[in-house]
Amino acid sequence: MEFARVIFSGILVSLLLSVGAAAKVKDLPPCNFKAIYNFGDSNSDTGAISAAIFPRQWPNGETFFHKPAGRVCDGRLMIDFIAERLGLPFLSAFLDSIGSNFRQGANFASGGSTIVPQNKTIAESGLSPFALNVQVFQYDQFKARTTDLYKDKRYSCRSHLPRPKDFPEALYVFDIGQNDIAYGLRTVGDAQILASIPDIISQLAIAVEHLYTQGARTFWIHNTGPSGCLPSTLLGIKNPPPGFLDKHGCVKSQNDIAKEFNRQLKNRVIKLRAELPQAAITYVDIFAAKYGLISNSKQQGFVDAQKICCGYHKNGIDVGCGGILPLPNGTQIFGAACKDPSLYISWDGVHYTEAANRWIANRLINGSLSDPPIPITHACYRTS
Ligand SMILES: *[C@@H]1O[C@H](CO)[C@@H](O)[C@H](O)[C@H]1NC(C)=O
Ligand SMILES: *[C@@H]1O[C@H](CO)[C@@H](O)[C@H](O)[C@H]1NC(C)=O
Ligand SMILES: *[C@@H]1O[C@H](CO)[C@@H](O)[C@H](O)[C@H]1NC(C)=O
Repeated sequence: MEFARVIFSGILVSLLLSVGAAAKVKDLPPCNFKAIYNFGDSNSDTGAISAAIFPRQWPNGETFFHKPAGRVCDGRLMIDFIAERLGLPFLSAFLDSIGSNFRQGANFASGGSTIVPQNKTIAESGLSPFALNVQVFQYDQFKARTTDLYKDKRYSCRSHLPRPKDFPEALYVFDIGQNDIAYGLRTVGDAQILASIPDIISQLAIAVEHLYTQGARTFWIHNTGPSGCLPSTLLGIKNPPPGFLDKHGCVKSQNDIAKEFNRQLKNRVIKLRAELPQAAITYVDIFAAKYGLISNSKQQGFVDAQKICCGYHKNGIDVGCGGILPLPNGTQIFGAACKDPSLYISWDGVHYTEAANRWIANRLINGSLSDPPIPITHACYRTS
């Protein structure tokens, strides 16, 4: 089956090379993705940190799951909307040993993950021990062990394992890099971060190349968002000098770093296409989606993009979403959620609300932010 599809795509390549490749792909039947394998950070973590390190607390999950669901959000993440659109179930976190079902994919993303391997503990750096290289080791183990176990016809949980032949027909999604930039900003200067971008990008490329050698063929790669617009970034800035913020109130220098990361990522994706002849690789401009939403929040029916739904931030006191701060007089402040999260873009100052994630997903799913500009349902077709 795998071989047949590859040949099929191969024929398409020669047929479509001429003109209007992307337009013609849309007329082909949708790809039959059997699974999603996702690599990333908290923007797409559906339960890894919650299972492996510390549980995400209420009010996370309140809007959709009505209880904490391993996500830092009131509801669904972009990866959940992608799964829904492809008719696949929400992804279980690879690290979650309770109630997981991996038949149609697995999620290796973990909150705080970087592309570049880290040597510090999570307590020291706030970064996840499961950097992208570790997520790829986990994928290798997952594939080898489930393939082995699947052969055992008597194994009672076989229906929760992926079918080995489905691995090449899966969608491989990446959304990672934001923490490499954020950690750089906390520890070194802009110049040093800029100098490290080629290395960061090359490590992402190594992950893609490795998965390709393991049979992965369809890749869907998100670029990094405008982290200079995150309310958490802006909370700490008092009396910015003229020109420090752009006209939408975002830290210009920080967004410039994200844009440079994205420019280099896009170039690397183009090289990867040349290098991996059977791969269909889509580069998705999440930056444009998020910035588009932030700069038009009112017209899109949201409150000011800098308002945070969940958490307490008043009179110099900051309590994170779901956090509790005991006061000297015996009372406490709870980092509660706003009344109507669907009006907010920012959930907790760093992560987006379900409403914002849905808005973004609606734009990315139809291909309007992608290179090539084809819908996610057709991402398996290589167009050039
Ligand atoms: C972690 O340690 C290794 C080996 O000493 C080093 O090559 C790597 O650059 C370090 N990573 C970071 C992020 O400091
Ligand atoms: C406790 O202290 C907080 C902060 O100073 C104050 O807002 C609150 O009213 C106090 N509560 C009581 C019961 O004294
Ligand atoms: C994709 O969907 C968005 C949001 O619904 C819409 O604004 C845009 O025009 C669509 N683009 C294409 C190419 O269909």
